[in-house]
Amino acid sequence: VIAFFQPKLLAGKTLLITAGPTFEPIDPVRGITNLSSGKMGFAIARAAAEAGAQVTLVAGPVHLATPRGVRRIDVQTAQQMFEAVLPRATEHDVFVATAAVADWRPAQMNEHKIKKQDGTKTAPTFELAENADILAAVAALPDGPYCVGFAAESQELVKHAREKLLRKKVPLIVGNLGPATFGRDDNALVLVDAAGERELPHNDKLHLARQLVAEIATRLQQA
Ligand code: CTP
Ligand code: CA
Repeated sequence: VIAFFQPKLLAGKTLLITAGPTFEPIDPVRGITNLSSGKMGFAIARAAAEAGAQVTLVAGPVHLATPRGVRRIDVQTAQQMFEAVLPRATEHDVFVATAAVADWRPAQMNEHKIKKQDGTKTAPTFELAENADILAAVAALPDGPYCVGFAAESQELVKHAREKLLRKKVPLIVGNLGPATFGRDDNALVLVDAAGERELPHNDKLHLARQLVAEIATRLQQA
């Protein structure tokens, strides 16, 4: 393991990463969230720290231990994640967005628990508001970091990944070759950039994270 990163590929570099889901409260006891264990993001944070980077990890609600040497900031909502990331982004060389950010939040947060309307069988309805795109906002910063996005799709992964590359104006999108990787310790990835596609075949998430960190380090040197 130690020999893997000799010399250290990200020595002297700083890396900011989002991981896990976000949770958007409806009322004090309920909310909207996404499926994400955070394991891939935490593995990348660990691999980047092993590679000599100074790592800041902005984590949504997950049950995972902080990797050794990594600075962690816990958040709950997409707005909190945005506010944790944006002011710090230009201080970093690399930004990796692995978080499964909720695209929408309830437009209003109810201060008290919503109660059933006894006997009426009428379900409440919720108006939703769109959350800001953290990755696109960081990618648009002048003198911003090298940005890496993730894409988890249920169909046409590479097509959607390439579309996100262009729409969010980031140099690299990493596709999750699931389909059902949530919570598992293994995964397979496809790297999509202007040069084409490169698959990182099925492996445990830490091994994939180390390969991805090596790929990012190579691209940083070329950037
Ligand atoms: N992302 C983000 N902030 C958001 C939404 C997404 O930073 N509000 C990031 C994710 O962390 C990921 C990338 O953007 O790195 C792609 O996320 P994804 O949900 O696949 O893209 P969307 O633009 O939200 O498109 P859609 O969900 O409709 O496919
Ligand atoms: Ca989304």
